[in-house]
Amino acid sequence: MANMELVELGRTGVMLPEIGLGTWKYGGGPEPLRRGIQLGAFLIDTAEMYRTEDAVGHAVRPIREQVFIATKVLGSHLRRSQVLRAAEGSLRQLGVDVIDLYQIHWPDPNVPIKETMGALEELVDRKLVRYIGVSNFSISEMQAAQAALRHSPIVSNQVLYNLRWREIEHDLLPYCQQHGVTVLAYTPLNDGELAGTGQRGRRRPGQGGPKDPALAVLAQVAAETGKTQAQVTLNWCTAHPRVIAIPKSDSVARTEENCGASGWRLTASQMQRLNEAFAAPAAP
Ligand SMILES: NC(=O)c1ccc[n+]([C@@H]2O[C@H](COP(=O)([O-])OP(=O)(O)OC[C@H]3O[C@@H](n4cnc5c(N)ncnc54)[C@H](OP(=O)(O)O)[C@@H]3O)[C@@H](O)[C@H]2O)c1
Repeated sequence: MANMELVELGRTGVMLPEIGLGTWKYGGGPEPLRRGIQLGAFLIDTAEMYRTEDAVGHAVRPIREQVFIATKVLGSHLRRSQVLRAAEGSLRQLGVDVIDLYQIHWPDPNVPIKETMGALEELVDRKLVRYIGVSNFSISEMQAAQAALRHSPIVSNQVLYNLRWREIEHDLLPYCQQHGVTVLAYTPLNDGELAGTGQRGRRRPGQGGPKDPALAVLAQVAAETGKTQAQVTLNWCTAHPRVIAIPKSDSVARTEENCGASGWRLTASQMQRLNEAFAAPAAP
């Protein structure tokens, strides 16, 4: 708990842990989530799509006040009536009175953004939602969404970010850092691949695999720091200002391990070696 570093949510003054708990395909029951919260990872990310809101609700029921719950409306539910219905469903599944962060899971160019953002703001006005966020939005989509809001800021954008997937470094991450938008890095372990599980993860052709020399550098940095590969991978993510990583684990032990990614920092030279080993793809 004492070791968990905090990151401001947007410019709200609300401080969140730099390690949160993801719940896509989550099936670990209440204990891993409760242990994570105990260790200071009190941000839980779920979504209408994941069908894990009820499990999250069950896990946090006795400790609701200690937890910051982020959920999402499907990108195919962005008409006003659909947003309102989805939020009611999420509140019911979670068993809570208010959603702390309500995110649009992905944009839908076929629905006027004004209609969607109006519905989200209606939820804020009715005190059913505290803060509005987006996910998988580009800079121009974020700008259009912000312009469609009357009085609420977009406080976060949840996007793919890990050592292998660094596209956001070209423009989205600097934009968010400059404009006070928190980045929630999803799939921060590349689906376990970067944690050394031998899982495939999201791969580009010709990249990855157990013989990838970049993984040897990751293992070397882990050995030097006395941390695990998962911890180094997550620490690399959160070393970037305004970034929160939200790994998912069904296991209490791995949740403890992931929480141990906070409270210390990779050195500048370790960051550089990792950056070089996992070179960012060229700008498009
Ligand atoms: N907004 C979006 O479009 C979007 C998309 C994808 C994900 N997300 C969010 O981001 C969260 C995390 O992403 P993700 O679930 O795709 O992938 P991830 O967190 O990168 O990886 C999860 C995988 O890694 C394993 N794992 C976790 N900790 C580990 C450790 N310390 N050592 C070894 N293996 C470990 C997990 O297995 P065990 O469970 O067996 O430990 C699981 O198989 C999701 O749960 C979801 O909340 C959002």
